[in-house]
Amino acid sequence: MSKPGLILIGAGGHARSCIDVIEQHGQYQIAGLVGLPEQRHTRQLGYIVIATDDGLDELVRSYPYALITIGQMQSSERRLRLYQQATQCGFQLPVIIAPTAHVSRHASIGAGSIVMHGAIVNAGARVGNNCIINSRALVEHDAKVEDHCHISTGTILNGDVTVGAGSFIGSGCIIKEGVSTGKGCIVGMGCTLRNNIADCYRFIGHDKI
Ligand SMILES: CC(C)(COP(=O)(O)OP(=O)(O)OC[C@H]1O[C@@H](n2cnc3c(N)ncnc32)[C@H](O)[C@@H]1OP(=O)(O)O)[C@@H](O)C(=O)NCCC(=O)NCCS
Repeated sequence: MSKPGLILIGAGGHARSCIDVIEQHGQYQIAGLVGLPEQRHTRQLGYIVIATDDGLDELVRSYPYALITIGQMQSSERRLRLYQQATQCGFQLPVIIAPTAHVSRHASIGAGSIVMHGAIVNAGARVGNNCIINSRALVEHDAKVEDHCHISTGTILNGDVTVGAGSFIGSGCIIKEGVSTGKGCIVGMGCTLRNNIADCYRFIGHDKI
């Protein structure tokens, strides 16, 4: 039986990482990418950019599934807007888990989230919708990652940590057990976070930036 077709919304570097995970995952056939006007008809790892985001209404008639594949660092706004646009068009957003990742059967992952190569989501952890749990990140027991967050490569969220909706935690961060970030926070790469931070806080290890 043929695999269901999946549209990737976003056609840059993060999309290439997602393609590799989706190919390994093996349950969906990538039908094409949605990109910027100047990216139309170009290819990413062999898959063609077939439309811009104006074309989502049309694409959903042929392909039921979509995943947001743009990256997220300074703001979650674009990923959030595209997620809302895709769901309003009627796309279903699957959960993609790399076969090299471990997601506990006692954990939950929300619609449109991707768990990338080598990541671990441990027992009792909850990951919301439209999140990126990037390569080799660790989401420890009972940690909570709210919707539209990016937990970057190699980051460690210890037990009972909460990451507020729309936050970005940079590569190689460590967050102490039980600590919470507010919504829309940015934690710079390599930071150790020992105390709670408020909504929209930008933390780079010593002070606000
Ligand atoms: C926090 C971050 C988003 C800020 O980016 P930005 O707004 O472009 O700001 P800049 O990088 O220009 O940094 C501003 C200042 O803060 C300092 N700074 C930034 N991040 C820092 C960090 N993690 N630790 C210490 N200092 C840092 C910079 O040196 C710079 O100082 P200066 O003005 O004295 O030169 C960025 O530094 C970062 O951490 N990006 C994440 C990278 C990453 O994890 N990528 C993986 C994606 S999977």
